[in-house]
Amino acid sequence: RLGELAIHPLSLMVVNVAGYIARYDTDVDSLRDGADVADYVAQVLAEAPAGRRPAVHHLAPSQFLAPGFIDAHLHAPQYVFTGTGYDQPLLTWLTTSTFPREAEFSDVAHAREAYSAVVRRTLQSGTTTAVYYGTIHAPANRILVDAVWRHGQRALVGAVSMDRHAPDGYVQPSVAAAVDVTRETLAACAAATRRCSASASETDHVDRVRGCVTPRFAPSCTDALLRALGDLAATGGDSVEAHVTDPATPSSEPRRLPIQTHLAETRDEIAWVASLFPEAQDYTDVYARAGLLGATTILGHGIHLADRELRAIRAAGAHIAHCPASNFALGSGVCDVRRLLRAGVSVALGTDVAGGSSPHVLDAMRNALTASKVCAMLARGPPPSPAAPYAPLTVAEVVYLATRGGARAVGHADDLGYFGPGCRFDALRVDLAVGAFVPAPTTSPPPPAGHAHAFAWVPRFPHDTLRDLFEKWIYLGDDRQIQAVWVQGEQVVPMPAP
Ligand code: GUN
Ligand code: FE
Repeated sequence: RLGELAIHPLSLMVVNVAGYIARYDTDVDSLRDGADVADYVAQVLAEAPAGRRPAVHHLAPSQFLAPGFIDAHLHAPQYVFTGTGYDQPLLTWLTTSTFPREAEFSDVAHAREAYSAVVRRTLQSGTTTAVYYGTIHAPANRILVDAVWRHGQRALVGAVSMDRHAPDGYVQPSVAAAVDVTRETLAACAAATRRCSASASETDHVDRVRGCVTPRFAPSCTDALLRALGDLAATGGDSVEAHVTDPATPSSEPRRLPIQTHLAETRDEIAWVASLFPEAQDYTDVYARAGLLGATTILGHGIHLADRELRAIRAAGAHIAHCPASNFALGSGVCDVRRLLRAGVSVALGTDVAGGSSPHVLDAMRNALTASKVCAMLARGPPPSPAAPYAPLTVAEVVYLATRGGARAVGHADDLGYFGPGCRFDALRVDLAVGAFVPAPTTSPPPPAGHAHAFAWVPRFPHDTLRDLFEKWIYLGDDRQIQAVWVQGEQVVPMPAP
């Protein structure tokens, strides 16, 4: 639950061949002396289907498993220019950095290299699920879909739609042309799904990569394009519906496609939207009127929203992807996540590469904590003013946003982003003994009873609890400690050299 962090030492988990957690026994006290492990394993082996011998992994005392991270908003083509151009505000940055660099993805060789790099980088950083924006180019988007499949990530992939206010070489000439590229990208996901389900009979990878309807943001789209995309999302994309049909859903009832876009990122953008869409009540209403605001919608940023908009987003069951690193880098604003949560809005976390300068969800979490503390300081005002009741986000809450919050946003509220029976095994193995960001292990006296034991990680002060060590990792860790990554039970990190 939001605000609760469950840490289970001495636990035993069984993952089945389809990549689901079949059994999860936590805090098995009798395992403390290790004697029962052999019995437990023998019992699991006895229950395994004939002819199969499950692999058995033991975690070292310095290791733990965590649910994989979900990056609910990033731009795959922008990975190549991450860390540059932040001396500009958003709308200038789009014109000077973003559009010219995204236009380069008409070159499929460049797309191949860049998309393989971003998928590898994010997987190694612990992003088991990524919600990608691609570009306006169908061939490059297909390459992104293939890279995601090949490297084993879970993802939504969106063909960016934009038919105005962009340079000549990087704009779609008509609504029909834009919709076609989205259809082609949806079809690429469907084709990859079919290939996979035909070849990998043992794993449930169907639906691992899904298409996503992606109007860039309101100023880049005519109202006609927004409406066409809203229709496409509602009908499930008719001819390409196959890729979203799960066995439980009769094909006569198309599942609404995922949708993503940007919302209320800067004040300048909001003023521009108001002038472009005078008939709409506000920015959120532009999307609502086009049929783009629903339970499958992920809205990037959502910084400067009126109370009415929060109510509309909540009522629609849409999700906000909070992108704090980007909001700081481009100076877009400080999103008050506590306010969103109090309004009952579902919140996930995004790196917004390249608006954000880091592809690591760990960095997104740290920036979310900082952003929330800024909100708390501003809410309290300068010293003589009385303290306003404002609780900044906690570590437990940002971990929730990066896991379960993201899972809700991608339509996996019940089987992703945490460990429990029936969940998909998307997980990280973290080893706190790895990485020179803390001094080398030293010998220290045994910890008091009930505290962390045998961790070779320094600072390994004897009074560190397991929770202390986990918090230290969230604040100080990086991908070096992420030694293994699984998606749907399949190990995808370490990965072979490219
Ligand atoms: N708004 C429209 N396009 C973009 C983009 O590429 N990045 C960010 N951060 N905001 C946007
Ligand atoms: Fe973005």
